[in-house]
Amino acid sequence: MAEINRRDFLSMALAGVAGAGALAGLVAMKKTWDPLPSVVSAGFTTVDVSNMKDGEFSSVAWRGKPVYIIKKKAGMGFDAKRDFKINDGVFTVGVQICTHLGCIPNFESIDKGFLCPCHGGRFTSDGVNIAGTPPPRPFEIPPFKLEGTKITFGAVGQEYQAMMKQA
Ligand code: FES
Repeated sequence: MAEINRRDFLSMALAGVAGAGALAGLVAMKKTWDPLPSVVSAGFTTVDVSNMKDGEFSSVAWRGKPVYIIKKKAGMGFDAKRDFKINDGVFTVGVQICTHLGCIPNFESIDKGFLCPCHGGRFTSDGVNIAGTPPPRPFEIPPFKLEGTKITFGAVGQEYQAMMKQA
């Protein structure tokens, strides 16, 4: 067995210390890059719509954006590109930011839809832009997932995927 001289021993000890230091540095870097748990959960907003009545409008914040939820009235039809069902109710959701220049349109009523105060843009209650007004396209539909009577914005469920295939 070869004898380890003092120089070899010091070299190995130094390499060991350097290796441990590098590993500790990598662990610290990973901790810095990983999002905080609160940031991860902040990407999702869950709403229970079991108490919404026909024709009701509701709004929540999702990732800092206003997102509306409307439960349509009977007889308002079903737009497969923008509506989905929970039990017997027909719902529609969208990011309430004008597709013209980014103002926040006001919801007027289930029959009148949305009016943007900036340049008079109009959207139906389904979030579709009305021809002849400035917005060039409908409201964006946020990704969502259904679980019973709960809608989770930020997650991708099969209803959302089906809508995106139609778009
Ligand atoms: S920003 Fe809404 S109509 Fe111009």
